[in-house]
Amino acid sequence: MHFQWYPGHMTKAKRQMQEDIKLIDLIIELVDARIPFSSRNPDIDELGKNKARLILMNKADLADEKKTRAWSEYFKAKGYFVVCLDARSKNGMKAIQNEIMEACKEKIERDRRRGIKNRPVRAMVVGIPNVGKSTFINTYAGKACAKTGNKPGVTKGKQWIRLNKNVELLDTPGILWPKFEDQSVGLKLALIGSIKDEILNTDELSIELIKILLKDYPDALQGRYAVEEKEDAVKVLEAVAENRNCRTKGNELDYSKAAALVIDEFRSGKIGRFTIEMPIEE
Ligand code: G4P
Repeated sequence: MHFQWYPGHMTKAKRQMQEDIKLIDLIIELVDARIPFSSRNPDIDELGKNKARLILMNKADLADEKKTRAWSEYFKAKGYFVVCLDARSKNGMKAIQNEIMEACKEKIERDRRRGIKNRPVRAMVVGIPNVGKSTFINTYAGKACAKTGNKPGVTKGKQWIRLNKNVELLDTPGILWPKFEDQSVGLKLALIGSIKDEILNTDELSIELIKILLKDYPDALQGRYAVEEKEDAVKVLEAVAENRNCRTKGNELDYSKAAALVIDEFRSGKIGRFTIEMPIEE
């Protein structure tokens, strides 16, 4: 299977971000906690050098808690401030506020030395499509002031959302596209639902997913679908079809239906909480 991304928007979005970054003190970068590496665009490190950095490991409610902690330590060791999050919930917003102040301590101190008092920290939310940028902005700002959708550069004049006396947020998030010369990155993005399903072969995708789960979470499929098979992914899919009575009109087992079901239940967390990549040892 070959994965693609809409490259047409990329240059424009990147240029926009270069401009926006000049206006801010802090980059709030969202990553998907299930694939913290593959859901990042490494260009952000270049674009955001000299800026304070906060990584939000979002959709942590769908990720493996133990692995989320390991990733969090990994990012912290690299100098980022980190908060794990379910952006749909208000919980965690206080922690973010604290981390923002901590991440911008130097700037606040610099302002103070120059006699500038109470100038709010200016921040911008960035991330690849679907990581939860709009959801986060809505929850954090406490009202529906960020539109869901992936249209970079819709606002002409810069609009800032005044969150409180200490923080202002640029109202349009910066959209980065994932990078994947590496097709395994494309596969993981497809699995979490970041690539449109119309361009994907769901049958193949489900087989890849089953292989990953058999390897990293050997009991998960058994728990959900009472599947005994532990080796052969196609046999597992067949067993899922049987377990869920996925059948064609002619009463044959319907593999495609089972494939779509497994993917859907994986994405919505029904099979369990999974993190399908770990930091690469350096
Ligand atoms: P974006 O601006 O970065 O593109 O992402 P957006 O906020 O639109 O969020 C994408 C989807 O992810 C939304 O689902 C949203 O509810 C969901 N989401 C965001 N944060 C979290 C989180 O922390 N946990 C979970 N479980 N879901 C989260 P949606 O509107 O239903 O769209 P879809 O899921 O049908 O794509």
